[in-house]
Amino acid sequence: MRILSGVQPSGKLHLGNYFSMMRKMIHYQDKSDLFCFIANLHSLTTFSGKDKLENFTFDALCDFLALGIDPEKTTFWVQSDVPLVTELSWYLSMCITSNQLSLAHSFKDKIAKGITPSGGLFFYPVLMAADILAFNSDRVPVGKDQKQHLEYARDIAAEFNRKFGETFKIPEPEIDNETAIIPGTDGQKMSKSYGNTINIFDPEEALKKSVMSIVSDSAGIDEVKDASKNAIFSIYTLFLSEADRDSLRKRFETPGLRYGDLKKELLSVILDFFSPFRKKREELLNNRDYIRDIRKKGALKAHSVAIVQLEKARSNLGLK
Ligand code: TRP
Repeated sequence: MRILSGVQPSGKLHLGNYFSMMRKMIHYQDKSDLFCFIANLHSLTTFSGKDKLENFTFDALCDFLALGIDPEKTTFWVQSDVPLVTELSWYLSMCITSNQLSLAHSFKDKIAKGITPSGGLFFYPVLMAADILAFNSDRVPVGKDQKQHLEYARDIAAEFNRKFGETFKIPEPEIDNETAIIPGTDGQKMSKSYGNTINIFDPEEALKKSVMSIVSDSAGIDEVKDASKNAIFSIYTLFLSEADRDSLRKRFETPGLRYGDLKKELLSVILDFFSPFRKKREELLNNRDYIRDIRKKGALKAHSVAIVQLEKARSNLGLK
């Protein structure tokens, strides 16, 4: 089974990114044919700047590799290195109306906020459909926010097949409804845009500052505490087994727990958990040639799969 997903390079990786998405992807590589890419073309719709995009892309490559993506097992590449996908996006754009595209949440939300969206943002779902269809993907695991984009990809594939003859597999979405929302330091959903993230590869001091700033209620040391609404608890449990989770809950229910001590404990749990990854990442950051080589090989591998779909599409369209 081929599983495909893409992640936009967005700077520093945080606990929310890791536990909601990346860990799952990395597990897939042992069970299935994983295709994983860095969606730098989609990033162009949110920010620009040569250095920023280059650095974010490089960091994302190092992050994924450090956390366990194995380029021998997984097809791992940078979106813009396989331009066949952008070619396909043009063909696919004939299989959706401009009216349908204007109904995309990502597009409508910008308009609602008074921002004038670019043509690129309008086209975003078509490029995403091309990402998926170029690789003949069976399943696409994404967060809830990407559900509509998956529906576009399915509709576009079906319409292409109807108009031009059977060409694409209809991809199955895998929407993660279960993952509990991971709170940030202020208790809201952890997100870069809220400035409440705990960045897993920050230097220790910065990481300490983030963890120590997690909000908590004002229950005194001698009071019984409510774990269910506690951000320290929610974050801590990401690292715990079912049994350890219960014992942490018991500690909340027993007077004497100090939030300050618990945060220090959490900090050391986070540092321990990510320490092998951190070490690996340091090595990768200093090995630009190796990363360049991985990037090149990944692009070749991805291209060799996409070209098969492209040849079919070009031929069915009457382009050759
Ligand atoms: N739009 C996705 C996001 O922002 C990233 C993405 C681009 C993607 N192309 C994709 C995800 C194809 C899955 C499949 O998260």
